[in-house]
Amino acid sequence: MPKLPAPPLPAPLKTPPPRPGRGNGKTGPLEEAQQAGITVVDWVDERTSLSGAARWMMFRKVPKGTNWFYTLGSATMFAFLSQAVTGVFLAMYYRPDPAGGAYESIRYVTNEVFLGQFVRGMHKWGSSVMVVLVFLHMGRTFFFGAYKYPRELNWVIGVVLLILTMAMSFTGYLLPFDQRAYWASSVGVNINGTGPLLGPYLSDFLYGGAEFNATTLSRFYAIHMLLLPGLIAALIGAHLYLVAKLGTTAPPWQKAGRPRELRETEV
Ligand code: HEM
Repeated sequence: MPKLPAPPLPAPLKTPPPRPGRGNGKTGPLEEAQQAGITVVDWVDERTSLSGAARWMMFRKVPKGTNWFYTLGSATMFAFLSQAVTGVFLAMYYRPDPAGGAYESIRYVTNEVFLGQFVRGMHKWGSSVMVVLVFLHMGRTFFFGAYKYPRELNWVIGVVLLILTMAMSFTGYLLPFDQRAYWASSVGVNINGTGPLLGPYLSDFLYGGAEFNATTLSRFYAIHMLLLPGLIAALIGAHLYLVAKLGTTAPPWQKAGRPRELRETEV
């Protein structure tokens, strides 16, 4: 069968002609390295058309008056990413074993592992940073009226993200399995148990039984490092999709300008 000619590339995907290197008409190693990067991106894009989605997500008009308070959502997202990365390294050493293994593995990370104390510190302090940021971000969206039509669904997704973030802090607190972790978590789960209707079921679910037992720690660990991060990542995706689709809200003090068409007819 005769081979069909390849369809022509759209202009932005065409590899630009090589730029001459220092005066001798040849390309230098730097240009070649740059070209290699462009060629790989082109190759992937030609097969996936992902650049369209990236452009849709990244190149957006933002309302006049956008200010530093609008960075709080992204700051929360980066706090989450930092927790995810440091958490992966901690998981390489952590053992959810209530008979001394959990405490010992945390002691080992802190005192023996190269940069272990630093990574653990980042994860521990990062959790507080994320909680503070998520509240500040919620405050920003509330005071700027960003919860109103058409962004109610994004507010609801945000509320779920807030609850999941608090649940991350709660489940993470037990993992060092020292006296403070044990008693604080017991108090927390018992408080949950006093909730109306669902309370007792929730506490049974968290304990993995009627009271603290051998499976409680591994249950908290699975919820902390698999279930909640997965849910948070998926919901952040939905949250950002809606932000990109609906755009961000202008600050409440920003007055609406006259549309361009009307301004152009003015004398
Ligand atoms: C893990 C937690 C969260 C992350 C990573 C996150 C991320 C973001 C980002 C990046 C934006 C766009 C930029 C900005 O306006 O700051 C945004 C917008 C928004 N977020 Fe969140 N968010 C989170 C939690 C929340 C919470 C708890 C609420 C409220 C209950 C919320 C409600 C909103 C709303 C309504 C918008 C639209 C803002 C506008 O139209 O101006 N988000 N979020």
